[in-house]
Amino acid sequence: MRKRIVAGNWKMNKDFQDAEDLMFEIADELADKGSGETEVIVCTPYVYLEMSSDIAAENGFMVGAQNLSQWESGAYTGEISASMIHSMGISHCILGHSERRSYFGENDKIISAKVDLALKNNIIPIYCCGEVLAERQAEKHFDIVRTQITEALFHLGKEAVSEVIIAYEPVWAIGTGVTATSAQAQEMHAFIRSLLTEKYGSDVSEEISILYGGSCNAKNAAELFANPDVDGGLIGGASLIAADFVTIVNSFR
Ligand code: PGA
Repeated sequence: MRKRIVAGNWKMNKDFQDAEDLMFEIADELADKGSGETEVIVCTPYVYLEMSSDIAAENGFMVGAQNLSQWESGAYTGEISASMIHSMGISHCILGHSERRSYFGENDKIISAKVDLALKNNIIPIYCCGEVLAERQAEKHFDIVRTQITEALFHLGKEAVSEVIIAYEPVWAIGTGVTATSAQAQEMHAFIRSLLTEKYGSDVSEEISILYGGSCNAKNAAELFANPDVDGGLIGGASLIAADFVTIVNSFR
């Protein structure tokens, strides 16, 4: 059985005190409402990883980073390496988020190098893919996602790819309040799983969790998560409100 996962992506939000308060609120909400079988990961800004992972570890959930460097180590001022993140006890890292692709020029080659460094350092990549609105309107969304998956992941062997969590995040749904319909999400998730089956076989593809991201909230999560190929969510805005985030964690039927 593949894992059900809900991951929060705080992006570049919250000053230290607010971030610490939010971590404690999430811990309290989880203690109250539980999390069932769902794995909970909160991806916080680098500078809060130590604080947040201490609180998460004491309260039975996990913390991830939001990015890591494409280089191993050395003269790359301002960069944070996979081994640094691992040495802080961090288990997961979002890679290939559309905001990294569009604002920081990350392409599939760069993201593929990051995936390799994450895996080499025992960090589970949460690999994001998804089309922009014009690509969907031009009915190119399947081609775009196929390319993103192929270029960044398909050099991996069966064992390595089995470690990866995939997040389908249609860019037109991120932070916009427009969510993919349940049918659109299921259709793309099933497509991604079919690509994985073709390349690695169903023993591998059936074990890889595919999360939906893009304006997923406390109201629509249950409908999205009810789809057979939607194994959870990557949550931006709604992960900044502890009660909403934990409602989403508990939205599996
Ligand atoms: P959103 O962001 O939930 O605010 O749309 C999702 C994401 O960017 O991961």
